[in-house]
Amino acid sequence: MATRENHSLPNRHTGYMAKSGHGKSQALKQNPDYPRHRDDRVLLWDPGRDHKAKRFTNALEYYQAIKKAMGSGKGFRLAWTGEQCPKEFERWSAMAFACMDGQRTLNLVIEELAAVQPSSGSAAPNFSILCNQSRKYAGVMHWTTQRSTEISKTVLDQTEIFYIGKPGKMVTKGQADRLARVAECPNGADDLQRLKPLQFYHATNDGSKLITLKYKKNI
Ligand SMILES: Nc1ncnc2c1ncn2[C@@H]1O[C@H](COP(=O)(O)OP(=O)(O)OP(=O)(O)O)[C@@H](O)[C@H]1O
Ligand SMILES: [Mg+2]
Repeated sequence: MATRENHSLPNRHTGYMAKSGHGKSQALKQNPDYPRHRDDRVLLWDPGRDHKAKRFTNALEYYQAIKKAMGSGKGFRLAWTGEQCPKEFERWSAMAFACMDGQRTLNLVIEELAAVQPSSGSAAPNFSILCNQSRKYAGVMHWTTQRSTEISKTVLDQTEIFYIGKPGKMVTKGQADRLARVAECPNGADDLQRLKPLQFYHATNDGSKLITLKYKKNI
């Protein structure tokens, strides 16, 4: 259970959506808000091994390492690269929430969220708690997905900042229009379907702008 809520903390939850190979992991790692300092506390759900971190495939070893790292007071980057399924993700979500103390930021990096979302309706209980409550306990989520239409509305509702790339042809017109509305595309969904790899609409509370990233190796 998270402790010491601080209602004044900002919502920094950020979502990255685009079809495969369009640069979501690059956008995430090039975001100035991406946790990369050695003092940062970071838990990663990283089945594709996109991020630099200490990796675990054994749950017992992973959760023991998290407890030890939390007790040390130092920064850490601990990644789960084991089984990628909704049940394991629920366990990860519960552990992440239990580590939050409302004082020091706990960064959560979640790659390919759709793979562990049972439906596009309400999220499973533990992940719902992360979505709905982690902000005030100093949790910051960065999540990516290839399939924006398969992730839960709970996480979409609670995400403040979006990087929106090309959605791909399989999304319905209504779904593409909704993304285009969030991205504030001048010509609607056609603008999204024309995006090249590494191009995104970066949508924040201050509006949305089109950005083109340069690929960076070893970040
Ligand atoms: N060596 C390279 N030089 C230049 N651009 C590259 C290089 N390697 C990859 N890229 C670009 O980066 C893109 C892949 O970026 P990234 O891995 O962030 O995509 P992604 O959206 O996270 O993909 P996935 O959904 O499969 O995880 C490629 O499509 C390509 O445009
Ligand atoms: Mg990726």
